[in-house]
Amino acid sequence: MKNNDATAQTQIITASNNGADRFLDDVLTGLQSTPKRLNSKYFYDANGDKLFQELMNCEEYYPTRCELEIFSEKTADICDAIMGDGDAFDLIELGAGDATKSTYLLQYLLDQQVKFTYLPIDISENVISYLNVTLPVTLPGLQITGLNGEYFDMLEKAASISNKRKVVLFLGSNIGNMPAAEAEAFCRNLHRHLSAGDMLLIGFDLKKNPKTVLAAYNDKGGITKRFNFNLLERINRELDGDFNLNQFEHYPTYDPETGSCKSYLVSLADQQVKINGSEPIHFAKDECIFMEISQKFTVSQTDQLAKNNGFKPVNHFFDNKKWFIDVIWVAE
Ligand code: AVI
Repeated sequence: MKNNDATAQTQIITASNNGADRFLDDVLTGLQSTPKRLNSKYFYDANGDKLFQELMNCEEYYPTRCELEIFSEKTADICDAIMGDGDAFDLIELGAGDATKSTYLLQYLLDQQVKFTYLPIDISENVISYLNVTLPVTLPGLQITGLNGEYFDMLEKAASISNKRKVVLFLGSNIGNMPAAEAEAFCRNLHRHLSAGDMLLIGFDLKKNPKTVLAAYNDKGGITKRFNFNLLERINRELDGDFNLNQFEHYPTYDPETGSCKSYLVSLADQQVKINGSEPIHFAKDECIFMEISQKFTVSQTDQLAKNNGFKPVNHFFDNKKWFIDVIWVAE
């Protein structure tokens, strides 16, 4: 590790790996339950990462563009709010991906000579290696410690290596991929991992015209469909499954009353699927696998989620259409 102020400092910390076992357990448990379900966190293998990149650039998928607008147009306001009194802090990003949005903040903070370390957390080893190699080149002087593993394991790791104030980024409306009770539990757990005065900058996709929402999850180019099917392909490849992809169909839905956008794969025939030598799993014709929820929120629901779990919502940043919001929550 190089060690002078003008040069970036980089480091990667990786969790011990029992990921493959957990993947198999989760898939079997999900497909043996009624109704059948798979966990959308498994969408993101190397192929899924690529498909998600494609999705973020497709015409109908608006959330990324809206949040990017917030980060590019409100950079100074966001940074002023998270900077605190000037003492060094840790900027931790959960599910950092390619860090396009956070790069606006990193660049601004470096320009202002603010003292901070960037700690991206991601389950994908590819993502963390990529960020550790590329960010110090595009952002000279950046101190980065990549954390490769599950969110809470890595938050504990972050706390064990530094006792500085923490600002956690959880962007992209990733919180929307959790059912309501899980989202509450997640925020509660996050609060438990933080100290009073620490902050969370969290993105939510807001309720809007239902046709706009549904189109984003039913794009004409079929990228969302391939994104869902990729999980069956991944199960076939990594868990020795024998899903016949031609025997399933993608079915996206949006309920404007609840704000729940859900994706299913529907079995087109009465069929059996084997995974890793398991007992055959039976699918009736028209039986559905629940693949993903992408919850849409009202602003007051996001404020309530904060208050329910020990946070105070202090700043609300909207895009021009008010389709998306990034909120700063302070841990109390
Ligand atoms: C990552 N997550 C917030 C995306 C979403 O909008 O729920 C994943 C996605 N699924 C289909 N399209 C995008």
